[in-house]
Amino acid sequence: SAAEKDGHDWFMRKEIFEQPHAVADALLGRHSPGGRLQLDEMRLSEQELRDVDKIILVACGTAFYAGLVAKYAIEHWTRIPCEVELAHEFRYRDPILTQDTLVVAISQSGETADTLMAIRHARAQGSRVLAICNTNGSTIPRESDAVIYTHAGPEIGVASTKGFSTQLVASYLLGLYLAQVRGTMYGDEIRGVVHELEQMPGHIQGILDRKDAIYALAADLADARSVLFLGRHAGFPVALEGALKLKELAYIHAEGFAAGELKHGPIALIEEGLPVFCVVPPQGRDQLHDKMISAIQEIRARGARTLLLAEEDDPAVAPYADSVIYLPRVPVLLQPLVAVVPLQLFACELASRMGHDVDQPRNLAKSVTVE
Ligand code: G6P
Repeated sequence: SAAEKDGHDWFMRKEIFEQPHAVADALLGRHSPGGRLQLDEMRLSEQELRDVDKIILVACGTAFYAGLVAKYAIEHWTRIPCEVELAHEFRYRDPILTQDTLVVAISQSGETADTLMAIRHARAQGSRVLAICNTNGSTIPRESDAVIYTHAGPEIGVASTKGFSTQLVASYLLGLYLAQVRGTMYGDEIRGVVHELEQMPGHIQGILDRKDAIYALAADLADARSVLFLGRHAGFPVALEGALKLKELAYIHAEGFAAGELKHGPIALIEEGLPVFCVVPPQGRDQLHDKMISAIQEIRARGARTLLLAEEDDPAVAPYADSVIYLPRVPVLLQPLVAVVPLQLFACELASRMGHDVDQPRNLAKSVTVE
């Protein structure tokens, strides 16, 4: 009923709008008054965490994309080599696992069979397993050595939204906690990032408040046959997630690419009028931003309809944009938390307009409990 959905038409839409709250809950109680991070369900000792020499993140679907973002953040903050792998690929390729390997399983439901089999395999090889999970007491956290619960509240819509954003938060917290334990960041730096994270609920709310512009874009693109998504750095997984949402919900062909890869093949797909969402990195960081702008110029020159997600005070984007969705100014590693929101709204609205069942897309299950 509408009441269960807080007046929204779909659980998915309700869950998108719950994200400011969910992200705040995911951050709640994670630091002591002294300013040190504390992760209550972190049952691994500081010594065990100092001994970790490699991290492998395993997950499926949307959770896998959270893992890709986690890799960027955890490696940057801790200098521990991280791999990210689809759980079903990992399990069957004889991966190199030792007792100093930390396997991080990301799963909203905690019941995904592919992910469960991956952690069973890892533990059998003597590796330690940490779960990032939204469902208390589910199988994956029960079979893990440690768990960070995401506290998003129940997610009913099959396509994950607040599940994803809180997986990002938990991944950031894990990275910062490891940095604290291993001394790869100063306390002030860690507190600085935590402070930035604490601004996220407000930032996300700001984007949700501007939903009408995104809905108008969905109305405009209602007959698109194919949509591309480009990003780079932490924006690359956002592009993949934006594309997955369209496949899952609107059943239209959608693909995400790393912007730097365009010239190595995908640019051949660009033709007059093809909609391309581009996640523009924050200004002034390395050359990421400027390289993205050149990629946008390239595709626009070939007729792409450019739909840009960019910082609100970015003067470089307007000349190359058919539409701009403005994002708040945040550090590049945290940008996925804000950049994904318009793409969720877009997919939800487009699918709803197309008359699809947004909460129960065809052929999909909320949690896939068979391998
Ligand atoms: C299913 C769902 C996806 C989800 C994936 C992983 O395929 O349809 O939305 O991302 O499972 O689910 P998990 O519960 O492990 O995060």
